Amino acid sequence: MNTIELENKLGITFCKRQELAIEKGRGSYVWDEQGNKFLDFTSGWGVTCLGHSHPVIVNSIIQQSQKIMQNPNSGFTYSPARAKLLRQLHEVLPNGLDKIYFANSGAEANDAALKLARKITGKSKVISMIGSFHGRTFNTLAVSTGIDNTEKYLPPSTQTRFVQFNDFPALSEELDDNTAAVILEPIQGEGGVRIADSEYLQQLSSLCKNHKAMLIVDEVQTGFCRTGKFFAIEQQLAEIEIDILTMGKGIAGGFPFAAFAVSRDVDQGISLGDHGGTYCGNPLGCAIAADVIGYLRDNNIAERVRLMGKNLQEQLKLLGKKHRNIVESVRGEGLLWALQLSDDALVERLTAACLQRGLLVTPTRNGVLRLIPSLLLSNEELIEAVEILDSALASVVQIH
Ligand SMILES: Cc1ncc(COP(=O)(O)O)c(C=O)c1O
Repeated sequence: MNTIELENKLGITFCKRQELAIEKGRGSYVWDEQGNKFLDFTSGWGVTCLGHSHPVIVNSIIQQSQKIMQNPNSGFTYSPARAKLLRQLHEVLPNGLDKIYFANSGAEANDAALKLARKITGKSKVISMIGSFHGRTFNTLAVSTGIDNTEKYLPPSTQTRFVQFNDFPALSEELDDNTAAVILEPIQGEGGVRIADSEYLQQLSSLCKNHKAMLIVDEVQTGFCRTGKFFAIEQQLAEIEIDILTMGKGIAGGFPFAAFAVSRDVDQGISLGDHGGTYCGNPLGCAIAADVIGYLRDNNIAERVRLMGKNLQEQLKLLGKKHRNIVESVRGEGLLWALQLSDDALVERLTAACLQRGLLVTPTRNGVLRLIPSLLLSNEELIEAVEILDSALASVVQIH
């Protein structure tokens, strides 16, 4: 049996897959088992920020794995690898977030954030945004929408209220003194690359303060230079106060790792035993994350992403104009972009047409095709992707 047959026979499948078995990756490219090469604009779902198998990451794995791999946050001892990462991460975090804990996935970090917000405020109501995605644990499913999930697994959570993203009147109707937290993504990734307005974020932050509700900002998808800043929320920092910031995906460039950072006030409310996990803050993940963050910072990748992002924006806008019969809009920031089409069926056809031409892209809900390339994308790779998209859009138009 080949790879695909074996996976189909023995693996549980929760999503539709392409008939493609990826064997290796280098930089912005991946290769299947037959040696066919694909330009990867998925980055393993927004994870491989330095591209595939970057030497910094490979070297980090070799070096740290030869020292020690496991000695978690929740164990009894300290770790030089963890201490180094704490220092590196603290240097790039928004001001005011001074205490950090490491986790293994974005959902786990968000789950802990929600749990701690409820415990510390002594309140249970949580407000989340329509279109948000925060993970697939019970807690995070309860604050996510759009995927056919919550109804399937849960009685509708009576503690969660969903409001329209960027709609301040709707938020102020719901946010009251019983609210433990508001959770939101500065740019909704799975929701189709929808950007929070600056004014909305400021108003939201001061309303949270008025009602002593925590503001949880989920930067799992947008953090670590993806939007041309270390964190997407950075621009608004003068006006907003974050209680908990959650991180994942790009933090360790491909190794499963995540984190949450809290203000000193939140930290005051944390007690021994509130949280933990066998692999949380393992030295291997810490060493890789420290090296990824060091690379992003030392090479000013945020600036690079801003420039490359501008270039990609211009090219995509031109494509949008040229194919305006099917592209309704183009939106994004840095190297996180979306082409808005009319429906998911069209996106599926476009994804397949891109694949046929050697480009991997991520279909997202509500008629959105999402582009999440490596942050080290070159000009030539950008042009290659745009040419493929152009040809794929044309082919889809012909049969539309
Ligand atoms: C904004 C956001 N939060 C949380 C998650 C969940 O992260 P993970 O899949 O690592 O649990 C995702 C994943 O796509 C995400 O985009």
